Amino acid sequence: MTALVSTRAELQPFLDGFANGRRGVVMTMGALHEGHLELLKQARHDCDLVVATIFVNPLQFGPNEDFDRYPRTLDDDLKLCAEAGVDVAFAPSVDEVYPGGRPIVQVTPGPMGEVLEGAFRPGFFTGVLTVVAKLLNLTRPDAAFFGQKDAQQLALVRRMALDLNLPVEIVGVPTVRDADGLAKSSRNRYLGPEERTVALSLSRALFAGRDAAGQGAEAVRTAAGAVLDAAAAADGLTVDYLALVDPEDFSEAAPAFTGDAVLAVAARVGGTRLIDNLPLTVPAAPHNPGVR
Ligand code: PAJ
Repeated sequence: MTALVSTRAELQPFLDGFANGRRGVVMTMGALHEGHLELLKQARHDCDLVVATIFVNPLQFGPNEDFDRYPRTLDDDLKLCAEAGVDVAFAPSVDEVYPGGRPIVQVTPGPMGEVLEGAFRPGFFTGVLTVVAKLLNLTRPDAAFFGQKDAQQLALVRRMALDLNLPVEIVGVPTVRDADGLAKSSRNRYLGPEERTVALSLSRALFAGRDAAGQGAEAVRTAAGAVLDAAAAADGLTVDYLALVDPEDFSEAAPAFTGDAVLAVAARVGGTRLIDNLPLTVPAAPHNPGVR
């Protein structure tokens, strides 16, 4: 059984009960799917107390984004939490999280939050980091679990914990995909059957890019770009960005780059905006023309 609480006061006894145990939190905006389930399972495996937060954070949605129509499926979410062995679901109101209204003091991500997702969604990562900091303070975990699916978010949360000396371990969890490669996402439910097929070109592009990693950074971008260009021409996919970046700071990988990188893509299919990414390694091999 998963207990459902909506206030800090109701949550407190659960935290007190595990004062000496390892407490884990998985933060979500609900509409839970197998991707979230993986995070919950990992937390269950690693921790004595597992708290899942379910909160659609208004601060991270732009004026023309989908805050109002973002799926809210609390009953189903609680079933999935129970399946994963979650102890407590914390589903606070906006007033509970933002008691002073829109916060005057917020966490700014710096330059790393202004590229890629940050460039297309101004203020997005300020909204994310601010709510993550608040939810960490409300749930006071030893470990917090985040998906690689949102690689830039994960990197920024890690950086926030480091830069602000937050006493929490940030654990990254690999992306869960459908059998055909589409990354699980709460927004996939917006896709009609034909749009879903078009959406597959995101993961196809990433896999094509990874397959070309032996030939260097430029080859990765070219191979992935070719898949996206074809989908844009034939199927009306609109690409926001395709980028090969350093996973530490999300700076663009130079042509001679070698080592671990993240290939990231964002694109729109109809009215739905999707993101995906894949970690890969560009080897310092003879076939890599980027390396002299
Ligand atoms: P949400 O999109 O609900 O995602 C919650 C967590 O689930 C994030 O850490 C995300 O990376 C992870 N996740 C989503 N899809 C996944 C998949 N297919 N495989 C693995 N993990 C996946 O990300 C947010 O909410 C919000 O920004 C939040 C951190 C809760 C702050 O509001």
